[in-house]
Amino acid sequence: MSNIGIVSVGRYLPKRILANHHLEKTVDTSDEWITSRTGIKERRLAARDERTSDLAINAAKDALKKAKLSASKVELIIVATISPDSAFPSVACLVQKAIHAKHAATFDVSAACSGFLFALTTAKQYLQTGMYKNALVIAAEKITNYIDWNDRATCVLFGDGAGACVLAPVRGNRGILSDYMRGHGQFSELMEVISEDPKPLDQETTMIRKPYVRMQGQELFKIAVNSMAEAVEVAVKKAKLKLPDIDWVVPHQANDRIISAVARKLGIPKAKIFVNIDKYGNMSAASIAVALSEAVDQKCIKRGSNVALVTFGAGLVSAANIVKF
Ligand code: UT7
Repeated sequence: MSNIGIVSVGRYLPKRILANHHLEKTVDTSDEWITSRTGIKERRLAARDERTSDLAINAAKDALKKAKLSASKVELIIVATISPDSAFPSVACLVQKAIHAKHAATFDVSAACSGFLFALTTAKQYLQTGMYKNALVIAAEKITNYIDWNDRATCVLFGDGAGACVLAPVRGNRGILSDYMRGHGQFSELMEVISEDPKPLDQETTMIRKPYVRMQGQELFKIAVNSMAEAVEVAVKKAKLKLPDIDWVVPHQANDRIISAVARKLGIPKAKIFVNIDKYGNMSAASIAVALSEAVDQKCIKRGSNVALVTFGAGLVSAANIVKF
């Protein structure tokens, strides 16, 4: 059985930049608070008419171009998102239509900030069994659709974006060496999208607040550090490697203090951790995909690098993969 590897990684970021100093004008916050508590300096906002599928399509085109793979040859498209354009059709079907990948199987996965790694592992299984020869795995979020811009505890944290990769069989000892996926459903209330119940049809219609993210940051922080460190340890062991063998860690970008605490807990120098939260904030599923794409383009990750991808998010769900590039 051949290994399944990541043969290209692409990304797309919306053009509009929302800097911390802009948020200072709309809620009771400061650039100093946001920077020191999270590491975020700015984030991207999708345009009003730009949907999650548009972000996904652009990232997909970048990944296909880098893989030199024609869309007509794509056999499987999986999109990780918690902010689809609508309940249906799936974002994967909208991507398929836009890029003319007419032979592909298509579906979305919902695992919040862990979505990209859940999708990666899912796609890997299909390829490893031989059911499909390649897969386009996309993570795309217009998460700012779910932000209450009056809530300073959440509105400073998130941004929009998309990343994508092409998976295919690879030669030698390269490829996705191990996987780890875990649910922690007992903590589901720590991060939720709150929706108000619409009134029954026979009652007077009133204004209904848009669904919005509510989270208990401090509790999430502690669980994030422990579950991400555990995910890396398990995945490294499953890959038959040791922590010092890891050249780069590409973690979910929720908070730079979480990333530093995970690095300390694992005894991995911060210099080996790829961080871009300052530019984009937390893009949910898209964070790792975008970071991975930048790490490859900046030649931090090269052929032969051992990379740990690790994440944690609403659900709660955590995941990790060890990949040899
Ligand atoms: O994507 C995966 C899921 N999400 C996460 O993993 C997020 C995990 N949590 C975190 O990243 C951090 O808990 C936050 C960044 C959300 C918050 O940082 P914190 O250091 O835990 O702050 P805190 O919630 O303990 O709040 C400290 C103070 C409070 O004021 P008082 O009660 O001490 O007077 C807050 O009201 O900071 C206040 N505060 C703010 N002040 C200025 C909260 N948000 C802001 C803000 N600007 N934006």
